[in-house]
Amino acid sequence: MTERKHYAEILEGLKQCFPAPTSNPVMDGYLLYTIAHFIDRIDHLKGAAPLLGGPVEGRISEGSTQFPDGMSSVEAVIERLVEYCRGMTLWSHPNFQAQVVPPPTVTSITAVMAAAIFNPNMVEDEASARFAEAEQQVVSLVSELVGYDPARSGGLFTFGGTGTILYGCKVAIERISGGRTMHEGIREDFKIVTSDCAHYSRLNVAGWLGLGTRNIITIPTNRDNEMSLTDLEAALRRAFERGEKIAAIIATTGTTDALGIDDVGAIVQLRDRLAAEFGVPPPHVHADAAIGWVWAAFRDYDFDGNALGFHARTVRSLRDSWGRMAGLILADSIGIDFHKTGYAPYVSSLFLLRERDQLKRLSRRTDEMPYLDQLGR
Ligand SMILES: Cc1ncc(COP(=O)(O)O)c(C=O)c1O
Repeated sequence: MTERKHYAEILEGLKQCFPAPTSNPVMDGYLLYTIAHFIDRIDHLKGAAPLLGGPVEGRISEGSTQFPDGMSSVEAVIERLVEYCRGMTLWSHPNFQAQVVPPPTVTSITAVMAAAIFNPNMVEDEASARFAEAEQQVVSLVSELVGYDPARSGGLFTFGGTGTILYGCKVAIERISGGRTMHEGIREDFKIVTSDCAHYSRLNVAGWLGLGTRNIITIPTNRDNEMSLTDLEAALRRAFERGEKIAAIIATTGTTDALGIDDVGAIVQLRDRLAAEFGVPPPHVHADAAIGWVWAAFRDYDFDGNALGFHARTVRSLRDSWGRMAGLILADSIGIDFHKTGYAPYVSSLFLLRERDQLKRLSRRTDEMPYLDQLGR
């Protein structure tokens, strides 16, 4: 049997694994050295191919998968990390062309590092007040960007584009059920309407929320991958005539592969017209702008003046795409992925609501969160 070290000796080694909570330039230096060493090791793997260190073969874990007996050194873990990075796609490499996944910027990487160092817990203000404030600031800024009124809008960051659709549908269900389902669960069929080009996460959402995927109504798309409005009208009429309850219509502004853009403005108008005609509550319209949100940066751009000097073809494309997305402002909620078209690392998704009051339906009473309720008393 191998002789074990005394725990106090192990503890001394363990302490070297943490950045210092009190001023300690030596430990700060060690943290910086470790990160710099990792980046240096990775640099050696960069080359003409857009894959870090070239294609990988085999698996790292071939051989023993036993839980290790002892602790590894920081240096050994970094070496291991380098191995896991091998074969990784370099999204911004000059020899690579793809969409959807961006290279994160230096500032966004640093911000993620700040979060990694301090582990902000935003469940209550006292622990990380400024991080909580940052979330609110982004909600305001992006509201303004897309054309929402920041004085009325609300939102939060969540676990990916899928999470934004989950929130959109959840708010929709609470709205149509008069706020009952948080407590009673879903006791009747509510429908969700999307196009056949909408992201497959609609299936997860319908399944996870307990709606069931069979309650998704799928609308065909036209040759531009946009939801067909005539088919949408026919499907809504059919559903309302049968007395079916439609909780949400999910419009996709920027489908994953072909950037099909559903006409949110026209969908909202159709929704209002038919809801009035049938005397039913208007379904919630959620815009899945995980990819397309960034076109809102051109909301106020003078395409004729073209002060940024874009190529004429680029101006035509921007004007056309933004023209189709401008109805975003009318959506009841919007899903935004900074880890797609925002040059931020995974996971960075924002769920925006035009009327923040609707979020109240998802909140809990303070007495239901005992340890938070007792804070400051
Ligand atoms: C349009 C659209 N919506 C939603 C999603 C789901 O996003 P996530 O993978 O971050 O959950 C994607 C992902 O590619 C997407 O392209």
